[in-house]
Amino acid sequence: MESEKWAPARCSRLSVGIGSPVYYFHLPLNVSHYVQYLPDLGRIPAFVFIVHGSLRIDTANWLRQTLERKGAREVGYFHCRGEAHVLPLLREGYLFSPDRPSERELFEAKNFGAAVAARAAGAPYVRPPLEPKPPLIYRLERLLARRWLMEHFYSRLFRVDSSKCTACGLCMEICPTGNITRDPRGFPQWDRRCLVCLSCEMKCPEAAITSALDRFFPGALLRLVFRYDVRRWVREGKLKYTRVIHRRGAISRLATKHVNRSEDGFRGISRQHSEAI
Ligand SMILES: Cc1cc2nc3c(=O)[nH]c(=O)nc-3n(C[C@H](O)[C@H](O)[C@H](O)COP(=O)(O)O)c2cc1C
Ligand code: SF4
Ligand code: SF4
Repeated sequence: MESEKWAPARCSRLSVGIGSPVYYFHLPLNVSHYVQYLPDLGRIPAFVFIVHGSLRIDTANWLRQTLERKGAREVGYFHCRGEAHVLPLLREGYLFSPDRPSERELFEAKNFGAAVAARAAGAPYVRPPLEPKPPLIYRLERLLARRWLMEHFYSRLFRVDSSKCTACGLCMEICPTGNITRDPRGFPQWDRRCLVCLSCEMKCPEAAITSALDRFFPGALLRLVFRYDVRRWVREGKLKYTRVIHRRGAISRLATKHVNRSEDGFRGISRQHSEAI
């Protein structure tokens, strides 16, 4: 059944840990489905681990609240950054959160693991507050990436240009859900388990793949929104980024900008540019 596409095969009775990236200010489809179809968790310890490349806003709230509603006992919430390999942002020439997670974040993640184990065994835990409500602009943007649109629109409109495709198979290999297979001519064809991560389009060495974000409304509008976000983030100077060129599946770095603030705390800025790496 469609609704059970990503449902959990089984549920451990010892503890539950959900680690997830942020996609389009949401959880990826497979993660949200998985969590939604978890059975009653009956007070078992649960932790949440979020990786994000630009703004995570309140993405973790739904996850934490859903686990709680299912009866789990939260024993940890952690978030850190990862490089934002987001095709529309790369096309604008920006890689946000380059070289993340940092050594420090990895160290903190390790400590988080140890703390979670201790709390699951009974050590005290003060539950961090939920993330604050995001500004209106991001809530509006999130409407363009609603789950229904992801499942029934964005994920279904991939096309391959057979005059460019060499049938190398890379897109099939790298798809995280095994959603791409060969058609009888050897070209890629897309099934229904797509996360709209855009990795296939991003990594194709022949630039032979296009998606809904390249062609139609509201995909084209979503692309404009990404463009607006990039301009806004760069102008505000709140996020670290590296200038890049994305071409034929490869990302080349051009320059680095460092912003000396807590990236989530919106404080003072100093900039430093360095030459190509
Ligand atoms: C399609 C897509 C959409 C993304 N949307 C967001 C977002 O809305 N906010 C954010 O902070 N990061 C976003 N990211 C960045 C990822 O959360 C970040 O790069 C994370 O490190 C990815 O983890 P992974 O490399 O394990 O997939 C997005 C990444 C992709 C591929
Ligand atoms: S990665 Fe590109 S060239 Fe290779 S099979 Fe896929 S679409 Fe064709
Ligand atoms: S966007 Fe491409 S790589 Fe990502 S899940 Fe969908 S088919 Fe796979």
